[in-house]
Amino acid sequence: MRKKFVAILVAGALAAATTIVSAADELEFSGQIEARQSLMTLYKFNLGVLGAMARERTPYDADTAKAAADNMLAISNMKNGAMWPTGSDMSAEGYAGETWAKPENWSNYAEVSEKAAAMNEALEVLAAAAGDGLDGVRSNLGAVGNACKGCHESFRADKE
Ligand code: HEC
Repeated sequence: MRKKFVAILVAGALAAATTIVSAADELEFSGQIEARQSLMTLYKFNLGVLGAMARERTPYDADTAKAAADNMLAISNMKNGAMWPTGSDMSAEGYAGETWAKPENWSNYAEVSEKAAAMNEALEVLAAAAGDGLDGVRSNLGAVGNACKGCHESFRADKE
């Protein structure tokens, strides 16, 4: 009985040690980076839904179009500051190949905020029109795409 208890303790200690080692191997901000890249993937997905309708690859559907535009607007209204900690840019040691966020996101935060605000405005216009017919999508989707691009050009490096 006592022996078994000791064995359990030892196994527990080993498991704890393994956890500590693997946590040390991980980058400090990998969770934040994963979260912000996932958030960007959500933009891309919803933009794709609308892009397919605009190009008539899928038939226009008012509810689906409105939902996709509303989703993007909701994402852009989230408070995401915690996903962008200082020291998690691509030039930080160990972060190349994990993140494509340029250091300028932190050194020129005022401009990042402007770009984010520009996208938010474009999304408001799109969300107001997306449920009112294909033209509402077509005439407002380009501005959103340009707003994404406008930020990426300055603040995201190309993935090689
Ligand atoms: C205010 C700046 C900004 C805006 C606006 C913006 N992005 Fe991004 N985006 C970034 C940055 C910075 C990264 C790099 C994040 C990283 O690698 O840590 C990124 C990365 C991405 C990625 C790659 C994600 C990955 O898995 O590596 C996609 C896809 C993306 N953005 C799509 C979009 C779309 C679509 C929009 C517009 C609806 C958009 N972004 C608007 C700054 C922005």
